Amino acid sequence: MSTNWETAEALKAPMEICWQFDYEIGIEKLRNLYSKSKQRQWDAEVDIDWSQPVDPSKPIIDEGQFMFDRLSVIKKLSPSKREEFTAHMSCHLLSQFLHGEQGAMMTAAALTHAVPDYEGKLYAATQTMDEARHVEVYERYINKLAVIYPISPWLKSLIDVTLQADHWVKIAIGMNMVVEGLALGAFHNMRRATTCELLRSITNNVLQDEARHVAFGNVYVGETIKEMDDDEREDIAGFAFEAVKLMSDSQGGARGDGQRAPDPGFLQMLATVGIEPKDFIASLMEAGASGLRAKMPPGQIHSFKDLMMPALVRVGAITDRTREMYAEAEIPVWEDASQLEALEDSETGVADLDRAEAY
Ligand SMILES: [Fe+2]
Ligand SMILES: [Fe+2]
Repeated sequence: MSTNWETAEALKAPMEICWQFDYEIGIEKLRNLYSKSKQRQWDAEVDIDWSQPVDPSKPIIDEGQFMFDRLSVIKKLSPSKREEFTAHMSCHLLSQFLHGEQGAMMTAAALTHAVPDYEGKLYAATQTMDEARHVEVYERYINKLAVIYPISPWLKSLIDVTLQADHWVKIAIGMNMVVEGLALGAFHNMRRATTCELLRSITNNVLQDEARHVAFGNVYVGETIKEMDDDEREDIAGFAFEAVKLMSDSQGGARGDGQRAPDPGFLQMLATVGIEPKDFIASLMEAGASGLRAKMPPGQIHSFKDLMMPALVRVGAITDRTREMYAEAEIPVWEDASQLEALEDSETGVADLDRAEAY
């Protein structure tokens, strides 16, 4: 047996882990989530029809919904080059999902260790298995399409900060609300937009699981924060702000209309398809100057507005003190949880969100 230490990356975590010898179920909602998780297990190998073809020359995510399509640097590419760009661009995005899923698998395992309640441990163990499946399906899909690109630095730092947090509530906030909030919005939008049946079926299955993961954050974190004293609550709220700020900076602000942070993996992707990064950046600046913005088509979910911020407000992870910090950072504290609730109540993680069509 050989262990792949050369490519492994180690982190030290200060988390307190605990046993629980009281096997009484105290939190009924968590028991229900655990039951649902057991019933809804699926096998990535058997339940997905991997024989469906993936045509790398076809856009994997509907071209029309790509803001990049409107950039002059892309418009002047030949049709075949443009398709190649779309495929690699999709792989870059899907690689972020893949790495994010690995992070989610590790944070779920960390929750299994750290949560104090028996039913919390049972639930977190099922989430760990869910995330393992998600890693498996995205790895397999990306390798059918093209190549795996490196993790974006902001995503790596956000997940590292989460993995190295000293309290399980911070892990649940960093992963189940912030990272999964973004992922859930992106999965939902991708499922609607994709022209690839295989990708759609993968995403359908993943979404079913993710809806439970977000619900867990709400049920368990909310109860725990309620019982905290002010200092503890402020510590948690401060962490939530840092996590949201990290993500917001990387996305060009919470509204998504500012400058995004540079991403070496994205530059590598451009080089692979033969686009000069400086031409690409110039084209982006030109588009920005002419008022071209990534506009969301109707029916799309806005991760910050519809999922992440309402989830944080609902569990009490935003205090008067941090509200001022959000205001200063120009991150609106959106509170309308109706989209989030529709998703948590749905059996599929999908159907009810489609009511957002008129939104
Ligand atoms: Fe996942
Ligand atoms: Fe998840």
